[in-house]
Amino acid sequence: MPKKIYIFDTTLRDGEQSPGASLNTHEKLEIAKQLERLGVDAIEAGFPIASKGDFEAVKTIAENVRKPVIVALARAVKQDIDRAWEAIQYAAKPRIHTFIATSDIHMKHKLRMEPEDVLKRAVEMVSYAKSLCEDVEFSPEDGTRTRPEFLYRILEAVIDAGATVINIPDTVGYAMPEEFGSLIRGIRENVRGIENVILSVHCHNDLGLAVANSLAAIQNGAQQVECTVNGLGERAGNAAMEEIVMVLKTRSDFFDYYTDIVTEQIYRTSTMVSHLTGMHIQANKAIVGNNAFAHESGIHQHGVLSNRQTYEIMTPESIGLKQSQMVLGKHSGRHAFEERLKELGFSNLTHDEINSAFHRFKDLADKKKFIMDKDIEALINEKVLEVPETYELEYFHISSGNTLVATSTVKIRSDNEAYEEAACGDGPVDATFKAIDRAVGVEVTLEDYYLRAVTSGKDALGEVTVKIRKNGDVYIGRGLSTDVI
Ligand code: KIV
Ligand code: ZN
Repeated sequence: MPKKIYIFDTTLRDGEQSPGASLNTHEKLEIAKQLERLGVDAIEAGFPIASKGDFEAVKTIAENVRKPVIVALARAVKQDIDRAWEAIQYAAKPRIHTFIATSDIHMKHKLRMEPEDVLKRAVEMVSYAKSLCEDVEFSPEDGTRTRPEFLYRILEAVIDAGATVINIPDTVGYAMPEEFGSLIRGIRENVRGIENVILSVHCHNDLGLAVANSLAAIQNGAQQVECTVNGLGERAGNAAMEEIVMVLKTRSDFFDYYTDIVTEQIYRTSTMVSHLTGMHIQANKAIVGNNAFAHESGIHQHGVLSNRQTYEIMTPESIGLKQSQMVLGKHSGRHAFEERLKELGFSNLTHDEINSAFHRFKDLADKKKFIMDKDIEALINEKVLEVPETYELEYFHISSGNTLVATSTVKIRSDNEAYEEAACGDGPVDATFKAIDRAVGVEVTLEDYYLRAVTSGKDALGEVTVKIRKNGDVYIGRGLSTDVI
């Protein structure tokens, strides 16, 4: 009888700790709703003590996303735990996740605490969290570099204090799969009371082993895996949710485990997270990369045409990826458009959202002869979240060439005031950014300018993601047009 593996998604907490991946409350809520549709068991929504924004986001998710457990992170510190509880107290299924480092290197150099004091603090804070919330998760940070005897002692003590989930993090992505599997087996065999709680793992990808380590842990008794969409996370990221889930599904002959993930929602979730965080997915990324189901060589194409199983171990449809088809054109009506949206998995759009998407589709159909599924997805994703417009670009003029210094003139409006400026730059994009900086009188650092063609061909839609930094805050904007400038 296959055993269930709980999927604990930490995209909105550890994933959001990826450099440059910050999300606002609305964006986090959209992602949390999509994670609910995906069927995750738990969502770690954030670290409420970290900032007011984090607190608000966790609270909003706790109040609006009712099916999964909503988890808030807290150091083993009373104020952190109070703030975490304040954020999730109205959740249908709240959980406080508290942690303290237990490896010699962390205790000595980071905490500057003696092991016995760390143990005492862990017990006190788990008991305190338990007095507020029935469901309490405890993590010994840097668990894989912790002396096993000390690890066993602290785990027994926090279980006695009321922990319901014990999570073993490979915080620095140091473990090897066999070694990590043995550690989990050792915990199963040596920690009194472990059979009464959920044993979880949390692997980082510094050596590219996060997924392999999570799977080794599952084979040795872990019941929950902590992971992120697209493997986002600190440094090299966390274990990728889509990879763990698809391994268990595709190799069900090898693994006697299952998850409750609706795998057909994987592609949509991955695209949404990439879009909202501005973190692009490498083309050859397993499961969700653009090339994951592409067959380039003639031999492979021939094989796939005769029988897909020759080179495909899972179907694109199983992750919700439809073959991009030429779907609609200039003369397609609203009904056909709406039907196609449903087939593409956009079944939760409101009447107004469909109307607005249909107008944008008609505008695009005037410029582009064949509209593909990917164009429609991009049109919808572009509007997932919009903030009210402050400035409106009235026009821009560019002169550029291989023997000219690029210059750009822009006219921008805000509150009935118009601002016109010109600037030279290293290419038309640079010149335009400089002219905009001057017109709005705000200087920002351009962190990333990323242009990708949504489909192929000269008339392809171009999608641009821009990340700017001002006073330490990162802002992300996106635009979609057949004119890439
Ligand atoms: O990597 C880590 O150790 C963590 C803990 C807070 C669980 O993210
Ligand atoms: Zn982590």
